[in-house]
Amino acid sequence: MCGIVGYIGTDSVRDIILKGLKRLEYRGYDSAGVAVKDGGQISLLKKKGRIEDLPKDEIPGSNIGIGHTRWATHGKPSDENAHPFLDCSGNISIIHNGIIDNFVSIKEDLIERGHQFTSETDSEVIAHLMEENYEGDMVDALQKTVEVLEGSYAIVAIHSKHDEIVAARDQSPLVVGVGDGENLLASDVPAILDHTQDVKYLQDGDIVRLKKDFVEIWDMDGNPVERETKTVDWTIEDAEKGGYEHYMMKEIHEQPQAIHDSILGRLKGFEKLDLKKYRIDSIRLIACGTSFHAALVGKYIIEEISGIPCMVEMASEYRYSSRLSEYPFTILLSQSGETADTLAAAKEASHRGCKTLGITNVLDSSLTREVDEVVYTQAGPEIGVAATKTFTTQLIVLYLVAIELGLMKRTLSVDKAETYRDELRRLPRLVEKILDKSEDIKELSKILAAAEDIFFVGRNINYPVALEGALKLKEIAYIHAAGYPAGELKHGPFALLTDDTPVISLCIKDNTFQKMLGNVGEIAARGSPIFGVGEKDKETEKLCDYHVHIPEVLPLFSPIIVNVVLQLFAYYTAYELGRDIDKPRNLAKSVTVE
Ligand code: F6R
Repeated sequence: MCGIVGYIGTDSVRDIILKGLKRLEYRGYDSAGVAVKDGGQISLLKKKGRIEDLPKDEIPGSNIGIGHTRWATHGKPSDENAHPFLDCSGNISIIHNGIIDNFVSIKEDLIERGHQFTSETDSEVIAHLMEENYEGDMVDALQKTVEVLEGSYAIVAIHSKHDEIVAARDQSPLVVGVGDGENLLASDVPAILDHTQDVKYLQDGDIVRLKKDFVEIWDMDGNPVERETKTVDWTIEDAEKGGYEHYMMKEIHEQPQAIHDSILGRLKGFEKLDLKKYRIDSIRLIACGTSFHAALVGKYIIEEISGIPCMVEMASEYRYSSRLSEYPFTILLSQSGETADTLAAAKEASHRGCKTLGITNVLDSSLTREVDEVVYTQAGPEIGVAATKTFTTQLIVLYLVAIELGLMKRTLSVDKAETYRDELRRLPRLVEKILDKSEDIKELSKILAAAEDIFFVGRNINYPVALEGALKLKEIAYIHAAGYPAGELKHGPFALLTDDTPVISLCIKDNTFQKMLGNVGEIAARGSPIFGVGEKDKETEKLCDYHVHIPEVLPLFSPIIVNVVLQLFAYYTAYELGRDIDKPRNLAKSVTVE
């Protein structure tokens, strides 16, 4: 998730691009760079660090330029890996947001044909492919280049001999800002709002040419197309939140894309994660908070898919547990990679002789230095304090790790692995279907907002989802909530059920479904209002006072879908109560004390 800005017009690009990039900093920043058309050549300036670290005075005065802030995916943050990139001739410069899946083989071929590379990134191949495909027309060169790319991209490019900017998008955002005698490109609206409110949203497969006084667009078949110009009346702050009132809501809505990116990134990324070199007979998962809940779901996922026994521990407890003579492969999950308890647990696990894998969202974070192996979630920066899209992408990584382990242990057939991967690929669409129900969930949340205590119950793989639903509600709505395995309420908590105690019941059609309905019946008999979440089912709907339908999904993958419903319940309940949703009281995004 990077930030992209391009400008062509009559003003000097220097301030326009730097200001635009600053507005996109929320998309991630580990390095920044600018390329401008400087007379008949390209001048390039790029640096590890923040936008302020770029020596502004060294950017030549020019009316055509492109800029980038990077959130690393392939290759660590460094001056070399920062964008823009140049081809060998130095005439073409590109910036890219997204992931090029087949870059390894493209790069090998390009090296064989004599191209020299300066970075470890997937993006640099684009500049070299454009160089090979350039025969006098940049749109033509870009069209031929994207034909061989697999993955996702927003690409913006300039040539030292042309007064124009060209760009292409597929599954990564890119908008055109239409000005008066000037035009802009950006990965998001905030970057262009100082210049224009007239925006064209490009579609997947579109290629665009920007001159200072016109914009030409072609669709994926190469046919000229018109994309409607829309006028956005957002303030800059609205625009940074994508038009949502809170980052949390924006991040909830980013989940289909985050799932998609995590699957793409990991299916390729696994070439680097070689689990075969470890003896993995048992696994311990360790984390805190929402990441701990992802670890609990992970236990079900890994045991079901690979048959490897798992145990789960809170990081703050693991460190002080007895040192038994066992060496399970240890997986540590942390969105930030900076949580003190998780870092201490990682050190302790290594000290005890365990091999470790870190799953984190932040490149080069402290956790990555404490573990033997790292896998990154591709959620992009999460700004809301409540973890949403990072929980979802942690689960995606756990599914993919489990599939790898299952294949490795031969407990999973190749066909079944493909069935699971197909189900993973369906998830973005299924999450969209839940997001479409937001208005219904908002209405139901008005009832929840009046409660003082709320229970969340689930069974099997959705029991930890109940825990996560309760945590999210406590955290942002400040309502006391507790998650339980549905079969456990009768062993004590029943005493708390009244007709003012809503119970959110996760009724998923898995092998515990009938038992779950039995539990819901017991709760109904105590008079508590029941909010069911599950597939369409007459029996469930009879038992529940309210019901949110989820689409049919393999039960093993249902936590992703069910949890989005619970995120929306928490958000709208907190909204109804006027809470400070993005910055809940007493909490911090990253807990760096034990
Ligand atoms: C809850 C939440 C926290 C974090 C926990 C661990 O919404 O965000 O519970 O999950 O502090 O943080 P990471 O994953 O960064 O280690």
